[in-house]
Amino acid sequence: MKKIAILLSCYLSGTYAICQSTSTAIAIIPEPVQMVQNAGTFVLPATITIEAPGLPALKPTLDFLQQRFALATGYKVLFGSQMPEAVIKLVINTTVNPVIGNEGYQLNISSGNILIQANQPAGLFYGVQTLMQLLPKEIESNIIMQHVKWEAPCVTITDYPRFGWRGLMFDVSRRFFTKKEVKDFIDQMARYKYNLFHWHLTDDEGWRIEIKGLPKLTEVGSWNVKKVGYFGTFSQPTPDEPRDYGGFYTQEDITEVVQYAKEKFVNVLPEIDVPGHSLAAITAYPDLSCSNGVDNHGVSSGEKIKDWATHTALADDNLCPANENVYVFLDKVITQLAQLFPFDYIHIGGDETFKTYWEKSDAIKALMKKEGLKNMQEVQSYFGKRVEKIVESKGKKVIGWDEILEGGLAPNAAVMSWRGETGGIEAAKLKHEVVMTPSPFVYLDFMQSDVITEPRVYSSLRLNKTYQFEPVPPGVDARYIKGGQANIWTEQIANVRHLQYMAWPRAFAIAECLWSPKEKKNWNGFITKVEQHFKRYDIREIKYSPAMYDPIFTAKNNGGKLQIELATEIEGLDTYYSFDNSFPDKFYPKYTAALTPPKDAVMLKVITYRGNQPVGRMIAMPLEEMQKRAGLKK
Ligand code: ACM
Repeated sequence: MKKIAILLSCYLSGTYAICQSTSTAIAIIPEPVQMVQNAGTFVLPATITIEAPGLPALKPTLDFLQQRFALATGYKVLFGSQMPEAVIKLVINTTVNPVIGNEGYQLNISSGNILIQANQPAGLFYGVQTLMQLLPKEIESNIIMQHVKWEAPCVTITDYPRFGWRGLMFDVSRRFFTKKEVKDFIDQMARYKYNLFHWHLTDDEGWRIEIKGLPKLTEVGSWNVKKVGYFGTFSQPTPDEPRDYGGFYTQEDITEVVQYAKEKFVNVLPEIDVPGHSLAAITAYPDLSCSNGVDNHGVSSGEKIKDWATHTALADDNLCPANENVYVFLDKVITQLAQLFPFDYIHIGGDETFKTYWEKSDAIKALMKKEGLKNMQEVQSYFGKRVEKIVESKGKKVIGWDEILEGGLAPNAAVMSWRGETGGIEAAKLKHEVVMTPSPFVYLDFMQSDVITEPRVYSSLRLNKTYQFEPVPPGVDARYIKGGQANIWTEQIANVRHLQYMAWPRAFAIAECLWSPKEKKNWNGFITKVEQHFKRYDIREIKYSPAMYDPIFTAKNNGGKLQIELATEIEGLDTYYSFDNSFPDKFYPKYTAALTPPKDAVMLKVITYRGNQPVGRMIAMPLEEMQKRAGLKK
C-alpha cells in the first residue's frame, strides 16, 4: 500500500517527487529544478572508479570527491580520463545543453552507475555537491565510518540556478578573521551553490588589505583595542591599552584566497567602503579627511563614533571629496585591487556617510561652488562619479550600497539594495543593474530568536522571514536584478563559531531563494531538509542555530492582566512550560492556549519537543519582561 502511494505521488507531481525508498528522505538544499526518483539505489563499490575530463578547472572538484570518499568510506578511489567501466562519470557536454546554462548540470543515478553532465566545470562541481547530499550524512566524516550502507537513491535531476549572483557578504573589518577562517567560510558557502563572496575589507574598525606604497594602512589602520561586551558601547580606549587586536591579509594571502574561491567556482567581490566608514584609513593618513581627523581617537575599537538617531558623526570617518589627494590615494588602492581580484566588479561602499564634517568644511564649500553642487548628497554623488571613473580606468565596474543613488547615480554603477527594496526598485527603473540584499530578509547579523536568548543586536530576523526573500520585487524588470545575497556584519560576532551560528541555517534559506525556482519553495519541506543538514553539520562540526525550535512569545494586556501566547515558526512541535522556576520537560504541562501566570510567579520556563525528543533550548523568560512588552510595567 505504501509503495503504491509513493509511486502515485511521483506520478502526480510530474517531474518532481520525494519518495522515501532509502533510509533517509532526499534532502537537497537548494532544491533542484527537476527531480524524479526512480526505483532502487546505487551502492558504492569498495573500489570507486571515476572517469572525468582532465581539465585543470576540475582538479579541485575531483580532489574533493577523492577526499570525501577516501576519508569517510575508507574505500579505494581511482580516477582516469578514459575509464569506460567507471561507476561514476563526469562529462562535459560536447553539444551545449541550453537549458542548464553555465552552472547547471544533469545527474543520473541508476543502480549501476552515476553520470553527471554539464556544459562547464562549474556545473560538474554543483552536480558533485548534489551527489554528496544524496549519499548518507556520514559521507561528511573525516574518519572512516563503519556499518554505513553507502547508497544513494536512483534519481534523474536537471538543475540550474535562478540567479547568476548568489552571494554572501562577510565583514572582516569589525572583527578580524584569519585566512583559514575565510577559506572555510567560502568552502561552506560553495557547498550550497553560492558563487559570490563579498569581502568587506575596510571599515572604521580595521583596514584589512595590504596596499603597496601605503604602509600605514596596515601598520596603523589594521589594529585596535580588543574589547568584550556590546560593540558600539565600548569605552574609549585609553593610551595605555594596547592596540594589538586585528590583522590584515597580505597580497599573497589575497591571491591565495581568490584562487581557493575560484577552485570552488566562487567569485570574490572586494569592498573598500568609502567615503564613509573610513576611520581606519583616516587614522593612518589623517589628511584624507576634510577635518584632518581633529576629533578622532584612532581606529575605532567599537566605542561610539556616530549618533545614529541624529546621523551625526562624533569622529570624522569620511574621506574628503574636495581633496585631490583622496583620488590619488583611491587610484593607488583601486589599481592594486583590480590586479588582485579578477572579478568584474569592485564594491566602493557608499553607505551611511554622515555629512557632519563635510558641512563644516571650507574646502567642501569651495568644491560645491566650483562644481555647482547644491547639497551634501550631490557632494557624495560627485565623489561617487569620480571613483567610478577610476574604477573603470582599471577595466572594472562599480557596485555600491543604495545610498549611491542619492544626489545622482554614477552612469554605469550597479546598486546593492540594502535599505529594503526601494533602492533596488529605483535603480532598476533607471536601467541599472541591481543586487538585492534587503536587510529585513537577508541581514544575518540580526537576532534569530527572542532577545532574551540571543546576543543583543538592534533587529531580528527569523528563519521563516529569511525564507520569504524574493529578489525580484513586483513590477520590476527582472532583467536588471542580477541576484541577491545575504550579509553578515560582525560588530556583535566576535569569533568564528558564532559566525557559523549566525550564518546557518539562514544561509540555507537564502541559497534556496537564489538557486531554486520560486514555485519549488516549500517552507515545511525546507524545514525537513534543514533538520537533515543539521545532522551533516554535526558531523562536520560546523555550528548552527537551533533558534527555529524556540517558541515565539507574545505578551498581551488582558484587562490589566498579563496573558502570554506561545507559537512556533515550524510545525509539529510541542511546548512544555513551568512557572515554578524548575526546568520543564515532556512531563510538564503542554502549552495549548494562552497562559495567565499565577499571581506571584516571576519566571516562565519553556522547552519544545518533537515527539519524545527535546529539540528547543530551555528558555527562561522573566515575567517582568513580559509585563513590559504588554505595556503593564515600565
Ligand atoms: C549597510 O548595512 N550599512 C550596508
